Amino acid sequence: MLMGLLIGGCGGEKYPPTSWGLYLNKCARCHEADGSSVTATDLGDHPVDLRDPFFQRGITDAEIRRIMIYGEGRMQGVSGLSDAQADSILLQVRRFARPGASALDFLPPES
Ligand code: HEC
Repeated sequence: MLMGLLIGGCGGEKYPPTSWGLYLNKCARCHEADGSSVTATDLGDHPVDLRDPFFQRGITDAEIRRIMIYGEGRMQGVSGLSDAQADSILLQVRRFARPGASALDFLPPES
């Protein structure tokens, strides 16, 4: 019951608190909307691509959550992520492994 409040409580974010919207708000700045992670690859010390099947197969859900919250290498943890938000973003990260699936998602209009 508190969860809706926690997720909805981040005022000023551009996109709604769906799994896709949270990803756009919190991650797309460095990992791009399509997961290609062009910016993160520039910032980091190795190529990053969230769509890469080797990346997707080689990492557990728990590891992705840990990276989101605590960071890894050149990536700082994203501050202020609730557990529920991290779970929700995790769904989007996994969705990059299955191109096309996100076409069914709600895509917020550009403002
Ligand atoms: C300010 C830029 C920035 C933001 C914001 C950011 N990341 Fe990153 N991320 C990076 C960089 C840079 C790396 C490469 C880190 C390194 O040097 O190993 C990375 C690495 C990762 C990795 C490991 C990829 C691999 O190939 O090992 C995952 C998973 C990841 N980020 C997920 C996320 C998620 C999910 C979010 C949103 C909650 C997010 N990141 C937000 C910059 C960012």
